[in-house]
Amino acid sequence: MTTAPQLVVALDLPEREAALDMAARLRDIVPWVKIGMELFTRCGPSVLGELKDMGFRVFLDMKFYDIPNTVAQAVRSAARSGADMLTLHAQGGKRMCEAAREAADSVRAAGDPAPLLFGVTVLTSFGPGEMPGISAEPSDFALDLAREAAQWGLDGVVCSAQEVARIRSAAPSLARLCPGIRPEGSAQDDQRRVMTPAKAILAGADYLVVGRPVTRSDDPAEAARRILSEMHIEKA
Ligand code: C5P
Repeated sequence: MTTAPQLVVALDLPEREAALDMAARLRDIVPWVKIGMELFTRCGPSVLGELKDMGFRVFLDMKFYDIPNTVAQAVRSAARSGADMLTLHAQGGKRMCEAAREAADSVRAAGDPAPLLFGVTVLTSFGPGEMPGISAEPSDFALDLAREAAQWGLDGVVCSAQEVARIRSAAPSLARLCPGIRPEGSAQDDQRRVMTPAKAILAGADYLVVGRPVTRSDDPAEAARRILSEMHIEKA
């Protein structure tokens, strides 16, 4: 990725009003917001349109994992709903990921905008020895999945900043999006493979996804500004 690293704030909030209120505080400060299971399951796709009307780029993080046809059709639905980026599990494998790629490409070939496809490698909440049925260390397994994701034509991967440098050298074509970002001194919560914003950028992350350190702060706009200044991209 040639552009400056971008900050994505995860709007993990239970209601439309709370999400739009948080978005209003972050408007003109962060370029991207993320809609995940909590908000989407409650509000549906209309909230995507509302956030786009506010000027945000929208990352739909539903982590698709299903048979190839179902995922391909979900990619088409996400495109129609206006998602600029979405996630699917790289563990869904070659046929599922290639079906998603073909769906996004055919949307684009028809002249419509299609979301960037990011493969989730290993959730940042997994620590060593915690993945059921998988003996590899999380970072090693994430690296293997990223190599495959590049072969399957995905645009990027979701990974911990702890493995992002190795992924950058093994699969340089992929954009790298890192959750599990924790500014110095903030609570780790349920995350395990964490890193500070500055270190994540130095390691090679293209997008940082931050939720609770911003949305649960007394002053979300200021919290976002502090992260941006750690990333060396000061806006507003
Ligand atoms: O609050 P916090 O900063 O931990 O939020 C991280 C966000 O990134 C959550 O919305 C979570 O669903 C998402 N995410 C993650 N790890 C992944 C993929 C997505 O934490 N591997």
